[in-house]
Amino acid sequence: MAINHFLQISDFTLDEFNYVIERSHVIKKKFKNYETYHPLTDRTLVMVFEKNSTRTRLSFEAGMHQLGGAAIYLNTRDSQLGRGEPVEDAAQVMSRMCDIIMIRTFGQEIIERFAAHSRVPVINGLTNEHHPCQVLADIFTYIEHRGSVAGKTVAWVGDANNMLYSWLQAAQVFGFHVNVSTPKGYDIDPKLVARDNDRYTVFTSPSDACEGADLVTTDVWTSMGFEEENAARLKAFEGWIVDGAKMERAKPDALFMHCLPAHRGEEVAAEVIDGPQSVVWDEAENRLHVQKALMEYLLLGRIA
Ligand code: CP
Ligand code: NVA
Repeated sequence: MAINHFLQISDFTLDEFNYVIERSHVIKKKFKNYETYHPLTDRTLVMVFEKNSTRTRLSFEAGMHQLGGAAIYLNTRDSQLGRGEPVEDAAQVMSRMCDIIMIRTFGQEIIERFAAHSRVPVINGLTNEHHPCQVLADIFTYIEHRGSVAGKTVAWVGDANNMLYSWLQAAQVFGFHVNVSTPKGYDIDPKLVARDNDRYTVFTSPSDACEGADLVTTDVWTSMGFEEENAARLKAFEGWIVDGAKMERAKPDALFMHCLPAHRGEEVAAEVIDGPQSVVWDEAENRLHVQKALMEYLLLGRIA
């Protein structure tokens, strides 16, 4: 039987996303009502981190606990992964002992090789190329605040990074448009975008990209794994800050999102991230709810 993995947004159909989003609402409501809900009793999640994390670790670990299961944290530093054990072997071993695996690592090919050798579902907790759990949480957050995202315009101001590629895949699945503005030299890598993806437009000016947007979003200028480029990026990204003037170009009821952690004064002005249009804390909290729904779906299938 084929195992369902969640390695990038394009792994799921719109129908599957709609189901997971519906379950996210139900599971969130139970959490808010302090209702015990243990569909994953005796199930174990392994979380493998090759990069730092606050939100991803917390939301997966707390989420599995709240669903009645257990979560085990492994990192490169003190597991055999850091000493060169092949990912294929690690996948065989972990998936014989546990029921579901979440990985945060570098190249997407690493998680793909891992999944190909796993007996259980694998979830991408961030790679250099994708961050599908965050974009799922962001779409859920948009729906909570504004309803369906279909037909809307999302402005992406900043680096062509994992978050952007997941947004571009989501645009195809959910039927919205992304206005992208990246500084020269940090543009979209066409190899990471489906050839038939006509759901985005590239803008030279970051302010023009925000024009009429329903949602403005950005992310750090230097992602994990690219730290040695930090000084060059600080220069190249000057002008790509999401500030009040850029938010003025968006629709009056536009939301602002950032996956966090954020750098006030670099990619976003404090007036925006701490202002009334920002929903960044909801995005962070919703990681918990959507990932619980995702794990429930990957392990139990459709139960409602
Ligand atoms: N947004 C996000 O994935 O945060 P962490 O790096 O803290 O997990
Ligand atoms: N693009 C960022 C996201 C962090 C959650 C990074 O990869 O570091």
